[in-house]
Amino acid sequence: MRRETKITGIGSAFPEHIVTNDALVLKLAQRGLETSSQWIIERTGMLERRESDPDNPNEYNSALGTRAAILALEMAQKQPKDIDLILYATCSPDTPLPSSACWLQSHIGATNAWGMDINAACSGFVYGLATADQFIKSGGAETILVVGAEVLSSIINWDDRSSCILFGDGAGAVLVEPATDEDTSQIFSFKMQSDGNLWDLLHIPGGGSRMELTPERYEQKLHKLRMHGRDVFKNAVRKLVQFAEDQLQINGMTVDDLDWLVPHQANQRIIDAVAERLGFPEEKVLINVDRYGNTSSATVPTVLDEAVREGKIKRGDTLLMDVFGSGLTYGAILLRW
Ligand code: ACO
Repeated sequence: MRRETKITGIGSAFPEHIVTNDALVLKLAQRGLETSSQWIIERTGMLERRESDPDNPNEYNSALGTRAAILALEMAQKQPKDIDLILYATCSPDTPLPSSACWLQSHIGATNAWGMDINAACSGFVYGLATADQFIKSGGAETILVVGAEVLSSIINWDDRSSCILFGDGAGAVLVEPATDEDTSQIFSFKMQSDGNLWDLLHIPGGGSRMELTPERYEQKLHKLRMHGRDVFKNAVRKLVQFAEDQLQINGMTVDDLDWLVPHQANQRIIDAVAERLGFPEEKVLINVDRYGNTSSATVPTVLDEAVREGKIKRGDTLLMDVFGSGLTYGAILLRW
């Protein structure tokens, strides 16, 4: 018997501190960098984002992931001990070792689970969900927690005005289980792809084994994010359109068959360009980039959680997740909620 995949619970969590554009403009001015709220809004659509307090353990990456996971468990009416696999997508973990999945497992008491991290940057959550789908379909797992969580404020170069204005902190999580006979929920299809030749468009050069951190490298901020924004932008629009069209074609669908587009929240202009090229109505595109900025692997589960809890997304709705990230990585999933 074919097993289908159902998302049975969803949750999200953010740090308390809101950084408005005006506050960011002030922060950058103190570092001698010029920007304006108007520039940020026009180029990105962002109004504010959240920033974790590095001295508050409740706002560590794994703590945000844990809070999101607890909400997802509550919605699914499951206990931590029911989880048998944790897939934790992040590029800003609490520690290089152990994995964030193990930190979360410890916080939550998911003692029957095994877990691992997925580093596909902003595509990480969607990579995790596709992996979970395969574990459900193969019978390799029954109850899977997929998390996308980031504290990007810790890896941003605050002296680079073209990238530091884009990112925020937050976490989202879903619980994934086999669908029952009465359910219509299912993951129809997915496509994931990466292109390592484009590594330099968005990367962190130092801090890994190939460039250990020394005081000099620390001073040069080689452990912080570097980005070629314009090239990322062009690639993103092209690939998001291509992946969306591909998923629709595979399933014999058109944009009219979709209830919601759930794009990676990197920049409102990227989202608008993709929706326009697809001929997709803007009122059916889920958006939270205005309030949270780009939270990398957390964008898709957080924007989805908001729409589910507001009652916008209902069981039976058809959704297309469409993402890109450092790597470069790309991915799209077509599913029925
Ligand atoms: N304030 C004011 N001016 C600025 C700022 C700023 N914060 N940042 C850059 N500028 C200036 C530039 O110096 C440039 O000036 P110049 O023309 O005198 O050289 C001018 O604004 C235009 O710069 P562009 O880079 O061409 O601006 P663009 O319209 O491309 O917008 C942006 C920049 C917002 C970064 C855009 O390219 C973008 O969003 N790219 C995608 C980035 C992205 O999605 N990254 C995340 C990937 S996901 C992941 O894995 C983390």
